[in-house]
Amino acid sequence: MKIGIGNDHVAVDYKWEIKKYIEDKYGYEVINYGTDSKERFNYPVSGEAVANAVVSGEVDKGIVICGTGVGIGLAANKVNGIRCVTCSEPYSALLSRQHNNTNMLSFGARVVGIELAKMIVDAWLSGVYEGGRHQVRIDMLHDIEERQKMK
Ligand code: RB5
Repeated sequence: MKIGIGNDHVAVDYKWEIKKYIEDKYGYEVINYGTDSKERFNYPVSGEAVANAVVSGEVDKGIVICGTGVGIGLAANKVNGIRCVTCSEPYSALLSRQHNNTNMLSFGARVVGIELAKMIVDAWLSGVYEGGRHQVRIDMLHDIEERQKMK
């Protein structure tokens, strides 16, 4: 399993801690697409980079972190094929995998304490998409993307 990770300047140290946590606990390869500098860095850049890596298959899933998790999650969701959930608790993270088949997770370094973030990551990584009745809704999300392309 390969996880892409991205961040802006607010979440540099936080990113390293989450990366190490996933590597140590799960043995997954975590590939860094974020900034390593605390100089101002615009979150859409790394949100898009991780999203592109997910869609191309370079990585299996993506995790992106900014101050709130909102901006970088919005950027990721602009890429066709991405379903990124912005979470501040584990329940939504788990359900977003089981029901929405999310392929990216975002959270905020200024919002979510690092230990809670690890619980969110655990819930999200452990969630398995249930398919079935949920697939028609995922297909409808895809249809929205297709209709937007035709505009
Ligand atoms: C940066 O100041 C901040 O706006 C960014 O990290 C993020 O919270 C945006 O959604």
